[in-house]
Amino acid sequence: TKVYVLNGVNLGRLGTRQTLIYGATSYEDLAKRCVVEGERLGLDVECRQTDDETEMIHWLYEAADEAIPVVLNSAAWSHYSYALRDACAMLKAPLVEVHISNIHAREEFRHHSVISGVATGVIAGLGVDGYRLALSYLSRVITDTSA
Ligand code: DQA
Repeated sequence: TKVYVLNGVNLGRLGTRQTLIYGATSYEDLAKRCVVEGERLGLDVECRQTDDETEMIHWLYEAADEAIPVVLNSAAWSHYSYALRDACAMLKAPLVEVHISNIHAREEFRHHSVISGVATGVIAGLGVDGYRLALSYLSRVITDTSA
């Protein structure tokens, strides 16, 4: 089963960016970990990152059209992008929203995510482990008859 792991703005800078908050794992390592974890779980994980909101929205259309489950870290967009939320609302397969940091324990503007209301579930504050947990959840709920 194909699964998209989609990462938004500034997440390509993981490993160097505010490491006390986001940890020392680089984006490349995170992407590798997601693919390896996917293999272990029998999922075909495709990990992508963009700083371009339009590109992210087009990836969500692809996921919607092909009913692909999504793990999404929508980063700063989470807090204000109704456009991204509307694109997420088109998804047909489960959507797990992941935040590396505990957004509820940080600045007020991070406490609310406009994505959460259209997500199947949300993981925040568990570091990059959140991605692994999200994939584990998806592997259990996805029933694939083609594979
Ligand atoms: C984040 C939290 C957001 O508030 C922030 O803008 C990010 C990363 C996280 O993974 O903790 O870029 O989504």
